[in-house]
Amino acid sequence: MKKHGGLISADDLNSYRPVWREPVKFNFDDYAIYSMPPPSSGGICVGQILSILEPFELARFTSASPEYIHLFSEAARLAFADRAEHLGDPDYFDVPAGLLDSAYLAKRRDRIKPGMASSSQETHAGSPLGPESDQTTHYSVADAEGNIVAVTYTLNSAYGSMLVVDGAGFLLNNEMDDFSIKPGVPNLYGLIGGEANKIEPGKRMLSSMSPTIVLQKDQPVLVLGSPGGSRIITVVAQAILNHLRFGMGAEELVRHSRFHHQWLPDLIYMEMGAYGIDTKQDLIRYGHNIKEGEPYSDLQLITFSSNGFMIPASDPRGGGTPGGF
Ligand code: DON
Repeated sequence: MKKHGGLISADDLNSYRPVWREPVKFNFDDYAIYSMPPPSSGGICVGQILSILEPFELARFTSASPEYIHLFSEAARLAFADRAEHLGDPDYFDVPAGLLDSAYLAKRRDRIKPGMASSSQETHAGSPLGPESDQTTHYSVADAEGNIVAVTYTLNSAYGSMLVVDGAGFLLNNEMDDFSIKPGVPNLYGLIGGEANKIEPGKRMLSSMSPTIVLQKDQPVLVLGSPGGSRIITVVAQAILNHLRFGMGAEELVRHSRFHHQWLPDLIYMEMGAYGIDTKQDLIRYGHNIKEGEPYSDLQLITFSSNGFMIPASDPRGGGTPGGF
């Protein structure tokens, strides 16, 4: 090192320690496959490629056929897009937990079209499940005995105050932002308030959380909720209307495009590209202001049908998967 002007010192070498890591495990048909975990991308990328290709009937083709080469290349393109974004030394970077999750990979697989190459320009890393949401979280749960819960909990903005209580392992929130600090001064979500929500000793701040259960003649119809600050309210209200008025089922409810109005600012916020040009022109003609932007919120719900079926659905915007079918 010294001779060639290298940067590594004897101390660096002395302090280097090998680390034992659990191998990556995935299944392919009825095989259990173990491979190298991060900091190699190998095990995860091999696992993604194999899992993405598993349902294709590859044996119909030969190993040198264009059909097989196409499918494999598309799977590899997807795996490498994830590699670039999501993989690194786990001692320094939070590698998402869900990179080999079958529901996540099913969504990635859906992008593959037989006989048509996709473009790497338009292929980006996916949104696998992380270890845990960094923001307000909602879950909806129901069991066979008829118990139902809708829970939303919040630290307010991501990681709250960004302070962990020493030795206790939890973060302090920044919920004070949900008070109105002065009439006319917006909070993080652009919400305006006054006297009713001013800061007072012992008082609780005004939330927008909307964990909700819908019953018809005492029978459950829908349980739902979402994060999203002020937008929680319109997400939940639109989902209820989409179910009760527009007849949408669970999966459609969580996927459906969203718009939001909260009085001030005086505009309709729409998810980018979600609404047609005619709709937007009509709204502008009616006198609305329109702003388009990022998709938002993370709706979690269960619908109940009269014959006793419960159908859970989890918002694709949050990358979740419903549990317990
Ligand atoms: O209680 C409220 O209304 C806010 N603290 C919620 C914040 C929130 O949903 C942020 N997540 N996206």
